[in-house]
Amino acid sequence: MTFREDALAGRVALITGGGSGIGFGIAKAFAAAGAKLVLASRNAERLETAIGELKAMGAEAIAVTADVRKFEDVESAVKTAVDTFGHLDVMVANAAGNFVVPLAEMSPNAWKVVIDIDLNGTFHCAKAAYPALKTSSFGGRFIAISTTRALEGWPGCAHAGAAKAGIMSLMRTLCGEWGPDGIRCNTIAPGAIGDTEGVKRIYEEAGRKELELSSIPLGAFGKTSDIASAAVFLCSDAGAYITGADIVVDGGRNRSRSSTGVKVEATEAAE
Ligand code: HXC
Ligand code: NAP
Repeated sequence: MTFREDALAGRVALITGGGSGIGFGIAKAFAAAGAKLVLASRNAERLETAIGELKAMGAEAIAVTADVRKFEDVESAVKTAVDTFGHLDVMVANAAGNFVVPLAEMSPNAWKVVIDIDLNGTFHCAKAAYPALKTSSFGGRFIAISTTRALEGWPGCAHAGAAKAGIMSLMRTLCGEWGPDGIRCNTIAPGAIGDTEGVKRIYEEAGRKELELSSIPLGAFGKTSDIASAAVFLCSDAGAYITGADIVVDGGRNRSRSSTGVKVEATEAAE
């Protein structure tokens, strides 16, 4: 799916974790729609590879090394964006950490590290970007990447589930606080996205692929481009009246846990 090549023309977008997976998918889709990109994460080498691909597409893009657990890093990334391109119109809080460990075996530090990256990192993105977003001539956009597992419990990932539920609450609050500033605040909740390291590690290598697939009515894992399309839509003029929404992109999985993807056949009508 491609949008018009001017759908995001003139916008500057900062994407945390933009060098891999879903974040890089969003970066490529934003670039194809005319946005300028700032990618921020810890691994400079990974970021530079991603920036090379975006430049090869003809986009203006820069990398900033930042750990979202540190507010000063995120603040500095926002400053670099504004100093380089003159403004910041879109912030995508996408960076996250996750691994499978039952709560009984989870160390306090394992809990803390995921809460720090996911929940505190999203707060840092919001707080640092606010002054720039409220002056955006397009109307600022703040997007947080959540998950459908946030509100249904997530055995093996209590830390990530709790962090994502916290993010969803934060976004509801920001919708109310920042609406008057013209800033639209929405979450995108992906289901299992096949072309990511997380799904390979957490589902495929753990032998859960078929089980997970059977719970998806559309019968396949999603693609990073599916999440990117939702992000372009929300940040374009088409998303002008959308704030406070959770856009679920999961092939129907969260609506049909009990049917486990089995095709339902009609039975003979009772006499
Ligand atoms: C148990 C673990 C663990 C594991 C780390 N820890 N991995 N405990 N099982 N597999 C514990 C460590 O023992 C330590 O606790 C604490 O967590 C911090 O670990 P560090 O390695 O010191 O942390 P750090 O170097 O800061 O790395 C952060 C990280 C790492 C989250 C642990 O995995 C990371 O950088 N991940 C980024 C990439 C990622 O996770 N992508 C997935 C995105 S989300 P102690 O007590 O020993 O000090 C995603 C969702 C998928 O993909 C959803 C669908 C499947
Ligand atoms: P990924 O490829 O593993 O990406 C995680 C990104 O976050 C990496 O680019 C990483 O870059 C960055 N990051 C991690 N810790 C960071 C930190 N402390 N500071 C700055 N950057 C950090 O993950 P993904 O699967 O694409 O996931 C992206 C988002 O989608 C996450 O919010 C995730 O929870 C959500 N999600 C994914 C799925 C899925 O199926 N994959 C499903 C539901 C929700 P560096 O290593 O360079 O720092």
